[in-house]
Amino acid sequence: MDRLAQVLGVRRLLIKRDDRMGIGGGGNKVRKLEYLLAEAKASGATTVVTRGAVQSNHVRLTAACAARVGLPCEAVVHNPIGTDDEAYHHSGNPLLDSLFGATLHRTGSLEEADAAFIFVQAELMARGEQVYAIPMGGSVPMGAFGYYQCAQEILEQLGSVKREDVVVVVAAGTGGTQAGLVAGFLGTGVRVIGISVWLPKDEMAGTVADLATSVTKLAGAGATAPADDVMVLDEYIGPGYGYPTDEGVEAMRLVARSEGIVLDPVYTGKTMAGLIDLIKQKKFRDDDVPLFLHTGGSPGIFGYAKDISSRLGE
Ligand SMILES: Cc1ncc(COP(=O)(O)O)c(C=O)c1O
Repeated sequence: MDRLAQVLGVRRLLIKRDDRMGIGGGGNKVRKLEYLLAEAKASGATTVVTRGAVQSNHVRLTAACAARVGLPCEAVVHNPIGTDDEAYHHSGNPLLDSLFGATLHRTGSLEEADAAFIFVQAELMARGEQVYAIPMGGSVPMGAFGYYQCAQEILEQLGSVKREDVVVVVAAGTGGTQAGLVAGFLGTGVRVIGISVWLPKDEMAGTVADLATSVTKLAGAGATAPADDVMVLDEYIGPGYGYPTDEGVEAMRLVARSEGIVLDPVYTGKTMAGLIDLIKQKKFRDDDVPLFLHTGGSPGIFGYAKDISSRLGE
């Protein structure tokens, strides 16, 4: 991202475009679903059930990828920001969920969704369906393994860039993406910083470390990733998961206007706000090469249209 690097006054800034996956509008969940849905098919599942927020990118991509492999998809969605805004409920991701043929079960709080997730599965099983359940974000070892593979891909793509100089900056929601990367980069010199959009940093680091350890086992490597070695920052969450922040929308504006790239207000905007702040605070060494992992989420901007346009002052 040469233009953004210039604006921010750094030598070099790389981006990995996982928002450009060729299915369902793209995003990080595709790499997880590649493995999860293979497991679903192999186990003889007849229906996939998952969950997330109304504007969940994970639910959208599960719906798209399930359609692609010929499995019906049902999803329990909750309303983390307690809004009744029409666009939040019916534009962006939920609109695409319907287009991809998913059945949505709408609930209110996260706790209500916990119960509904169990209930929906039980009902489907009572009807004779063989259910493959994917938890929020697909952040189980088999899903996170997709990001172990992404780490291998990044290592190949770095070319002449020294591994020890690379700092991958990535959003951490349910932690599976960062976990897969941590496992994949173990022993390579590449550093990973997770920008939490949900949990306090110690909790997120613990989740990431546990998952990373399971991923290394899956990969046959067997090393462990202690929580103390997992870097997570939690100062860019703002009021909470799913609430846009001024800094996040400002980062969206900057990246859109310098690179023509769309970020979202829930994950990648906040993560870019974190990266920009780290640069401003001079937290990187002179030789460091930050690499922003673009995890997708752009359909979400339509669900947050009012909020974003008012913050943009338009
Ligand atoms: C666009 C986007 N970026 C990042 C994430 C975070 O990934 P993870 O849940 O694996 O931490 C998600 C999903 O949660 C997402 O939809």
